[in-house]
Amino acid sequence: MNDKTPPPLASHSLIWSDHSLKVLDQRRLPQQMHYDEYTDAAGVAEAIASMRVRGAPAIGIAAAYGVVLSAMSHYPAADWQDRVAADMAGLAASRPTAVNLFWALDNMRAAIGSHPTDPIPALTALAQRIHSDDIAANLAMGERGADIIGDTQAVLTHCNAGALATGGYGTALGVIRSLHKRGKLAQVYAGETRPWLQGARLTVWELAQDGIPATLIADSAAAWLMKSGKIDWIVVGADRIAANGDVANKIGTYSLAVLAKQHGVKFMVAAPTSTFDFDLNSGDGIHIEERDARELLPACYLDDGSPIDAWNPVFDVTPAELITTIVTERGAIMQPGRHGVGSLAPC
Ligand code: MRU
Repeated sequence: MNDKTPPPLASHSLIWSDHSLKVLDQRRLPQQMHYDEYTDAAGVAEAIASMRVRGAPAIGIAAAYGVVLSAMSHYPAADWQDRVAADMAGLAASRPTAVNLFWALDNMRAAIGSHPTDPIPALTALAQRIHSDDIAANLAMGERGADIIGDTQAVLTHCNAGALATGGYGTALGVIRSLHKRGKLAQVYAGETRPWLQGARLTVWELAQDGIPATLIADSAAAWLMKSGKIDWIVVGADRIAANGDVANKIGTYSLAVLAKQHGVKFMVAAPTSTFDFDLNSGDGIHIEERDARELLPACYLDDGSPIDAWNPVFDVTPAELITTIVTERGAIMQPGRHGVGSLAPC
């Protein structure tokens, strides 16, 4: 490996030890493989807010471990539950759109309620189960998504919905991995995903390590790629799916879905059921995170007093009618709508 070769994706974006959570700093990838180690919930909340860890399922898993660290810090103080509740509020405030965060916190809250004494073993076991269940879900939806796609010449993906963004294997990249293993996929195109470049920095790097042929395109090249007839499917992940099948995902996903309709390209969303917000009527109710304009502005406009501003929404909502299928670990919904989503809701 020479100095210019990026380090390999050794293992995981999140590594739990008995007393700490190690978080791979995804902002430094692919140049550096650097882990930060956290021993309290405030640190984990900051790691999520600053996008060291990112991707809806990985955010949920990190938050679950954050709750374990909180309990370890505060139990057995008389008011340990109040202190953990305050830490959970900090975790909940870290990013607003990915519902996996709130789903994981709800699960951890219920476990706290059931274990008023000696909570740490139960909370640790639950966080580890949330982590391992996510990997199992990705493997299942990867196979299911590959069954639906069958043979394809090439697919386009957006952002990074891979091992880095999940417990492992990935959602959209899980489908792509399963297709590739079957020898059914000749080529993957990945949109660069401005402004954080999750596609350019993370997705093409992750795929290259599995020997999956990946070609980077500028986000603005997607329409022309579709017009060329080179792709049959777009495969993306999700941050929140409403009860009517509307899907929030990385900014630019909606544009891809509109373009797919125009060009007869099929559109797949791969997401675990932890990404569904079954109580949310439609995508209109999804809180779309807007991040600091400075993440978007070129360096030449960052001086104090610069008159140049920027608008930086980091997610958008794709209406259900533009989606061919939503694939989950529990089954796939074709032509998503209320009925299909409802069939996946917990009883
Ligand atoms: O802002 P990010 O990088 O956290 O956004 C990530 C995405 O939008 C992913 O597509 C989504 O979380 C699914 S990850 C399996």
